[in-house]
Amino acid sequence: MIDKIRNKSAKIALVGLGYVGLPIALEFAKKYSVVGFDISEERLDKLRKGIDPSNEFEPENFIGKDIEFTSSIDKLAEASFYIVAVPTPIDKFNQPDLKPLISASVSVGKALKRGDYVVYESTVYPGCTEDDCVPVLEQYSGLKAGVDFKFGYSPERINPGDKVHTLTNTVKIVSGCDDQALETIAAVYDSIIIPGVHKAPKIKVAEAAKIIENTQRDVNIALMNELSIIFSRMDINTFDVLEAAGTKWNFQKFFPGLVGGHCIGVDPYYLVHKAKELKYHPQIINAGRFINDSMGGYIGKKIVKQIIAEGKSVLGARILVLGITFKENVSDIRNSKVVDIVKELEDYGCKVDVADPYASASEVMHEYNIRLSDQKEIAQYGKERGYDAVVVAVAHSQYRNLDENYFLPIVADNSVLVDIKGIYKGKISQMKYWSL
Ligand SMILES: NC(=O)c1ccc[n+]([C@@H]2O[C@H](COP(=O)([O-])OP(=O)(O)OC[C@H]3O[C@@H](n4cnc5c(N)ncnc54)[C@H](O)[C@@H]3O)[C@@H](O)[C@H]2O)c1
Repeated sequence: MIDKIRNKSAKIALVGLGYVGLPIALEFAKKYSVVGFDISEERLDKLRKGIDPSNEFEPENFIGKDIEFTSSIDKLAEASFYIVAVPTPIDKFNQPDLKPLISASVSVGKALKRGDYVVYESTVYPGCTEDDCVPVLEQYSGLKAGVDFKFGYSPERINPGDKVHTLTNTVKIVSGCDDQALETIAAVYDSIIIPGVHKAPKIKVAEAAKIIENTQRDVNIALMNELSIIFSRMDINTFDVLEAAGTKWNFQKFFPGLVGGHCIGVDPYYLVHKAKELKYHPQIINAGRFINDSMGGYIGKKIVKQIIAEGKSVLGARILVLGITFKENVSDIRNSKVVDIVKELEDYGCKVDVADPYASASEVMHEYNIRLSDQKEIAQYGKERGYDAVVVAVAHSQYRNLDENYFLPIVADNSVLVDIKGIYKGKISQMKYWSL
């Protein structure tokens, strides 16, 4: 297979061209023939024009790449090596929603031919590839898995917005349905991953490895959040504590904060779901989820208390929230926990303005019914009355560079600076300062 891919007599197909699928597609398309398949015509239109809707790539990154963007199953069927990178969200009851994965498997199943390979990259619970996806491939192809076609799982470690840890410089885990599948899948990925691949002994091991990466982060951040709740009652700044504790060689560097997005705050629910099916009710994982999911409401209440402590009325207080994306330096607003802070403040009768240099105003309006303010409006309001509190919720690089000289002209007397990420620690002297 790798030889055919190399001489372009076999094509690679990427199914799902989002944050994960597009970088993989463009990387393979540097030297191989790639079919980029997606169901979103809007996204495909943009990609054909060299525009990445996820804002991770510039138009020049598309130039000279051997890739055809399509939603046609016939085009998809031109490929022999399929990689599935569609979303794996949760529903409103925090249960896995496998609909995109199943529908992508239907498409691949229809396109599948004898001798083909299918690799899943979407984050799932252990067993999902073999128990939920492969039967769909068999049903729609009429082929026998492991005999007529091979399959595997290779979790993605892409970290959007991170220019240091990239697809090609991070070891990639690969797994296959048998030894021969493992070797072939490993060879294909190894040809683009500089430090090489790690061959997991089983598909379930590779699935479990991915899900614990994010579960571990979730639980560790939850511990920091719990510590920050305790320390706040003692008037201790958690970031001061972590700086001090971090001087020990084996102290793990995690920080309190909001856990939003579609990975860390979502994937643990996939593991919980599987554990429950096996009659085990995870305590630590669920506790982590509970703490992290409650942080927006907790921070909102703390802001209200700070405003009261400054002798201000909460009803009608004007608050500016800077940052709404789920993390710094990305445009992704999915599952943003900043929204929980905004809602909590609005429940108390505060009037909240929100700004973000990365987020799309139309997406924020569509998703959360929140209108983004621009710098001119913020400055204007600063002149007219001034904000009672400014909440810096996301550590975008533009915000990291700010100092008190930016805040003072836009705030009222006795205003509060809420620094959720602790980026202004020790730099604010003329405003009331609070951080986790
Ligand atoms: N974004 C990350 O940081 C990250 C990192 C590692 C793993 N993951 C995992 O990778 C998977 C994909 O995540 P993402 O962030 O790239 O999602 P995304 O929402 O950015 O992109 C998914 C793409 O899949 C398309 N799609 C949806 N259903 C489809 C279908 N049936 N057929 C074809 N295309 C379809 C969508 O139109 C979209 O373009 C998820 O399982 C996620 O958990 C994400």
